[in-house]
Amino acid sequence: MKNKYPRAVMLLVLFLCLFLKTHISDGADTVSANQSLSGDQTIVSAGGIFELGFHKPGNSSNYYICMWYKQIPERTILWVANREKPVSDRFSSVLTISHGNLVLFNQSQIPIWSTDLNSTTSSSVFAVLRDDGNLILTDGSKSATFLWQSFDNPTHAWLPGSKIAYNNVTKRKQRLISWKNKDDPAPGLYSLELDTSDNSYRILWNRSKTYWTSGRWNGKYFDKVPEMAENKVFDFKYVIDVNESYFVYYIRDNSTTYRHSMMDVSGQIKQLNWLNTSSGLSVFWQQPRQQCEVYALCGEFGSCNENSMPFCNCLKGFEPKLKSSWDLEDYSGGCQRKTKLMCGSNISTTGVNHNGERDKFFPMSSMSLPEDAQSVKAASAVECESTCLDDCSCTAYAFDGNNCSIWIKDLLNLKQTTEDESTGKKFYVRLAASELRAPKENNGIVIGVVVGGVAGFAVLIGLVVLILKQRHSIMEHGKVVAEGSLVAFDYRYLQNATKNFSDKLGGGGFGSVFKGTLPDSTVIAVKQLQSVSQGEKQFRAEVSTIGTIQHVNLVRLRGFCSEGTKKLLVYDYMPNSSLDSHLFHKKNSSFLKWETRYQIALGTARGLLYLHEKCRDCIIHCDIKPDNVLLDAEFSPKVADFGLAKLVGRDFSRVLTTMRGTRGYLAPEWISGAAITTKADVYSYGMMLFEFVSGRRNSEYYVEGELSFFPAYAAKVIIEGHDIFSLLDARLEGKADEEELIRLCRVACWCIQGNEAHRPSMGDIVQILEVIINVNLPPFPRLFQVLDENPDDTSFFEESSSS
Ligand SMILES: *[C@@H]1O[C@H](CO)[C@@H](O)[C@H](O)[C@H]1NC(C)=O
Ligand SMILES: *[C@@H]1O[C@H](CO)[C@@H](O)[C@H](O)[C@H]1NC(C)=O
Ligand SMILES: *[C@@H]1O[C@H](CO)[C@@H](O)[C@H](O)[C@H]1NC(C)=O
Ligand SMILES: *[C@@H]1O[C@H](CO)[C@@H](O)[C@H](O)[C@H]1NC(C)=O
Ligand SMILES: *[C@@H]1O[C@H](CO)[C@@H](O)[C@H](O)[C@H]1NC(C)=O
Ligand SMILES: *[C@@H]1O[C@H](CO)[C@@H](O)[C@H](O)[C@H]1NC(C)=O
Ligand SMILES: *[C@@H]1O[C@H](CO)[C@@H](O)[C@H](O)[C@H]1NC(C)=O
Ligand SMILES: *[C@@H]1O[C@H](CO)[C@@H](O)[C@H](O)[C@H]1NC(C)=O
Ligand SMILES: *[C@@H]1O[C@H](CO)[C@@H](O)[C@H](O)[C@H]1NC(C)=O
Ligand SMILES: *[C@@H]1O[C@H](CO)[C@@H](O)[C@H](O)[C@H]1NC(C)=O
Ligand SMILES: *[C@@H]1O[C@H](CO)[C@@H](O)[C@H](O)[C@H]1NC(C)=O
Repeated sequence: MKNKYPRAVMLLVLFLCLFLKTHISDGADTVSANQSLSGDQTIVSAGGIFELGFHKPGNSSNYYICMWYKQIPERTILWVANREKPVSDRFSSVLTISHGNLVLFNQSQIPIWSTDLNSTTSSSVFAVLRDDGNLILTDGSKSATFLWQSFDNPTHAWLPGSKIAYNNVTKRKQRLISWKNKDDPAPGLYSLELDTSDNSYRILWNRSKTYWTSGRWNGKYFDKVPEMAENKVFDFKYVIDVNESYFVYYIRDNSTTYRHSMMDVSGQIKQLNWLNTSSGLSVFWQQPRQQCEVYALCGEFGSCNENSMPFCNCLKGFEPKLKSSWDLEDYSGGCQRKTKLMCGSNISTTGVNHNGERDKFFPMSSMSLPEDAQSVKAASAVECESTCLDDCSCTAYAFDGNNCSIWIKDLLNLKQTTEDESTGKKFYVRLAASELRAPKENNGIVIGVVVGGVAGFAVLIGLVVLILKQRHSIMEHGKVVAEGSLVAFDYRYLQNATKNFSDKLGGGGFGSVFKGTLPDSTVIAVKQLQSVSQGEKQFRAEVSTIGTIQHVNLVRLRGFCSEGTKKLLVYDYMPNSSLDSHLFHKKNSSFLKWETRYQIALGTARGLLYLHEKCRDCIIHCDIKPDNVLLDAEFSPKVADFGLAKLVGRDFSRVLTTMRGTRGYLAPEWISGAAITTKADVYSYGMMLFEFVSGRRNSEYYVEGELSFFPAYAAKVIIEGHDIFSLLDARLEGKADEEELIRLCRVACWCIQGNEAHRPSMGDIVQILEVIINVNLPPFPRLFQVLDENPDDTSFFEESSSS
């Protein structure tokens, strides 16, 4: 390209810039030979929708020719011309027409970006920014095709009406390519392209490894994106002709222009919608749905955790290779060792350091196995380990009783799982011996402790094993037995730990809860179960099932005690108590902010979703209410008391319907006697959401001047479109995001529909609260209030759908 622009041309351009200096007049949508663009000048599409000019992303010091929505305050970049070649001074750089091309000259007047046409023709060529977001190059002729258009040269965003095509003539694919990081629009690792073999779109890592596919186009929608069929916003078209194949979408209602898709730096394809509210730009669809499903997101030796911020962490003994990139949310550089390995280094030819130690292995649990294992022959774990130890390029091994797997060089795609530590597979990562000697830091994933030398090796064990061990050794006389991941406690031991059940945390239909402290100073919550109808064997089976259920939004069962009629459950202690104590607290000092309430609503929904759909056996909680949602130190919600319905057996429904403080949350099917499904939990959850909004118990909140209880009144406000902020807890002083408030209220209203089939599933609810799907206006729930003298006996229900 350099040779194509002789010095004379540069001088001419310079001349034009300096002496003609025709500025873009305000509102112009055109760049032409005598109207160039420089500095803070922009061009704006005729309808005032799109704007193009120099832009400096985030903290970058570089400028790029970018296009964005003119009306939206948060600048949303939709197209970038010089992705890879920024300019540092926008005032001496110029975008203009030169030799029939649109060309960007940097401050040395060197062309650094061009539309690159072999145009021999006219000086009358000019570029126009159109209202669909297409920047076109035309000679003004009436021809339907343009000399060049940005729609044929997409960067990371996919606008309505544009396409990501396969060209059957040139055999070239167009790609949407993510930015390198949020400050650098240079092409990153993630891209979206068309696969003509089955007419699907796929997302690739480094243009080679597919990690998501849309499924084949079936004439109406892509197989793996069935929600397309339901949508009312877009029209879709899939085109196959001799010249090209592509998918294109249009907005049905032409008025809503602020929607686009993009290949995000997160490696996810996202659809965004700009809401003219404080929420601004919102993601209403994304794939892969989970951040950790993105291939190699955390790079080598990084591990992904869906529930942490940031998503990526380095394994023990490793640190980010490029700290600055990690800070920009680009984790792809991965992690590097803090300490070099002995093996293969030239400090020691024997692979032994001055302490006589070789490299060691650190066990990783609650983690998915890395990619690309190699299978080797080994009869035992020891043999498997030594196979890896002897090969300096071997970085990890795993032994599952039959097979020995080893990993050579880098470990990719490690994921933190919430699975039970004891059933999850373990693998061992090679580290320098010194890394294991002094556990200087705990990165929150694993706590390493050195326990006695076995054959000259210090053996490292994970947190769970450590706790079990300690309990074993400390309580040798207390008969502490581990069953799976659960600990079977001795009654007297728990009596001691709870100081003879003196510190009561709360009560409930199933029994009282007491605070206790284990000898290793772990704080626990001990629940004394009443009226357990099951035999010993069934009880243990049931308890161990509950023990395998682990999720960040569920309270973890640590163990139990079963001695005759003495049945106790031992849980993790939650420092912030239960939700009701915060939500309904009279004192203004401790009320929950709106953001916290929304996060708690979402976390609780995730926990319930896990119970309903992700466990081996579907579990209906049956007693969802703020009293059963506990809060950890970070106010992250943990659903408590799940699985108890089965333990208590047939007495359960009696317990429940007579329990004080529960009736206001019960679905009508409890009273009508119809079968109880997961939708009963959805109902209770919905009732609870109303309390998130009002900050008061539904059963105690009687709206003045309205002869109705809060959920009925709220439903009216939502459906008839009255001021939604009138529903909000006065203590919040109107400080809530309107969009979120509407979302939450609508969901609540859907949840309390009398007909179970009309209630959303927990999966739907999570997606709605995550703003992945939208929620329609609900129908009016036909609530009937039955008002007794005693407010605790008040229940809301609707005519049973069967009657
Ligand atoms: C720019 O050039 C075009 C022809 O190339 C001419 O029609 C137009 O009037 C010129 N504009 C200005 C501002 O000189
Ligand atoms: C810019 O950098 C500062 C300090 O490093 C940081 O606080 C801020 O969030 C960054 N801004 C953007 C837009 O990334
Ligand atoms: C302009 O671009 C050329 C070619 O990329 C480069 O060599 C030169 O340093 C750039 N000038 C400035 C001031 O950045
Ligand atoms: C432009 O011309 C060059 C050489 O003249 C040729 O190699 C190239 O293929 C042409 N490009 C296009 C897009 O026609
Ligand atoms: C991507 O692939 C290229 C070869 O196609 C390779 O050189 C490069 O290192 C890869 N990038 C990463 C981050 O692995
Ligand atoms: C693509 O082009 C080839 C010839 O290059 C042709 O045989 C084929 O039918 C074309 N594909 C479609 C879908 O028309
Ligand atoms: C394919 O391209 C040729 C050459 O540009 C054009 O004449 C023809 O109409 C195109 N066919 C279709 C179906 O668009
Ligand atoms: C949207 O615009 C297209 C073309 O610009 C037009 O055919 C269509 O009727 C419009 N739809 C609506 C709902 O206005
Ligand atoms: C957003 O809302 C404000 C106030 O209602 C209005 O003035 C503005 O025009 C709206 N912006 C867009 C782009 O619709
Ligand atoms: C190994 O020795 C060479 C030359 O003696 C030196 O350059 C290199 O840095 C050493 N490598 C390591 C890992 O110490
Ligand atoms: C272990 O190896 C056997 C034989 O190669 C294979 O059939 C089996 O699937 C392997 N098991 C695991 C867990 O990899």
